[in-house]
Amino acid sequence: MKNILVLGSGAREHTIADAFNQSKHTDKIFVMPGNDGIKKYYQTVPQEDFNGILDFVENNKIDLVFVGGEQLLSEGISDFLLSHNIKVIGPTKDAAQIESSKVFAKNLMQKYNIPTANSAIFNKTSSAISYLKGKKFPIVLKADGLAAGKGVIIASNFTEAELSIKEIMLDKKFGEAGSQIVIEDFLYGEEASIFAFCDGDNYVSTIFSQDHKRAFDEDKGLNTGGMGAFAPVDKFTKLKKQVDEQIFTPILSALKKENCSFSGVLYAGLMINNENISVIEFNCRLGDPETQVILPLLKNDFYELCTAISNKTIHNINLEWEDKYAVTVVLASKGYPESFEKGKQIYIDSSIEKKQDIKLYYAGVKDSKELNCLVNNGGRVISLTSLGISLIDAINSAYNNLKFIKSDILRFRHDIGKKGLQ
Ligand code: AMP
Ligand code: GLY
Repeated sequence: MKNILVLGSGAREHTIADAFNQSKHTDKIFVMPGNDGIKKYYQTVPQEDFNGILDFVENNKIDLVFVGGEQLLSEGISDFLLSHNIKVIGPTKDAAQIESSKVFAKNLMQKYNIPTANSAIFNKTSSAISYLKGKKFPIVLKADGLAAGKGVIIASNFTEAELSIKEIMLDKKFGEAGSQIVIEDFLYGEEASIFAFCDGDNYVSTIFSQDHKRAFDEDKGLNTGGMGAFAPVDKFTKLKKQVDEQIFTPILSALKKENCSFSGVLYAGLMINNENISVIEFNCRLGDPETQVILPLLKNDFYELCTAISNKTIHNINLEWEDKYAVTVVLASKGYPESFEKGKQIYIDSSIEKKQDIKLYYAGVKDSKELNCLVNNGGRVISLTSLGISLIDAINSAYNNLKFIKSDILRFRHDIGKKGLQ
């Protein structure tokens, strides 16, 4: 039986731990650092640096490490663990550039004809501003590097764009991530996410899911890390072959040609406009909150899937899905994605934990000894996932079950999944 270490602290990592827990091959599952909600189900351990992670892996006879987020991947955790013969799911630092550098991703897409918005790259403020003259608005500005999901600005006119360029490039609003920027045309359509499990040579792609990035109903308010998701997205199912042919196959062979073969989970964020599909972004890991709807629907043994990634046998895997729909509603701290109070009570009626087809995945939560309950400790706090035989059934059941969580500090969107009904 195999021991697993999941790296990360969010609802995505809780879901990944659950997927491993359902495997017939797994024994102990650890999450580093996890959070006090995950701690109710799995052993959580304090965050360590690379050497500390290696020591933990060796001392606890860990057979496989699954890296949840992009930060450690972009710092080279996979290269480090692989060099010590540890099995790890997640791309090398070079391959992770597909997410950690928008300039790298854009150049690659252009070179290999992968459909994406027209764009130009700048490292000088004055040339970036000159480029704006004569462009159509809105226009999209993207800081090159990782900026915790905040590095994309949609400017509705010249003045706004000019100000944002100065903030990014001169005031270094996103630090060094803004030394270069990509300016790209605004794409119209509907967004969707899709993942590919890749072994460096081959891949298998998942069903489509849809995130809800804006803070408020009807896609109003600021962009967040994601306020909810659903899967599958029936209206896009017919486009899967097109996505494989136009996007996954060429980008993975491009990465291989450029000597940075991708092994792990590749995430394509797409803009779909009738039959036209463009890549908005690639990420080098599973999405959050998309994972909270994709993994509960996946029927394959997750450890076997991960083994196929690390053994380069993904071509033998046929992904199988529950004949159900999944919806996840994110409970976020009031004020998020801007500032919010922390340390406020959250009461969870434990009867929800026994319900079939309902799951709570924990993110920004902490135990309070004084209050004797969980309190909020981050922007996105809990994802409540519900499965149903139809999308409407899954939506209704997710919203009906929110009553089991009581807190004055939490809020949520009321329209998760609605677009899937249209
Ligand atoms: P990203 O961090 O690249 O996912 O971008 C954040 C969000 O900005 C995306 O989910 C889209 O909603 C939006 N976005 C990014 N690029 C474009 C684009 N070229 N056209 C329209 N919206 C975009
Ligand atoms: N759901 C957006 C992300 O994971 O980046």
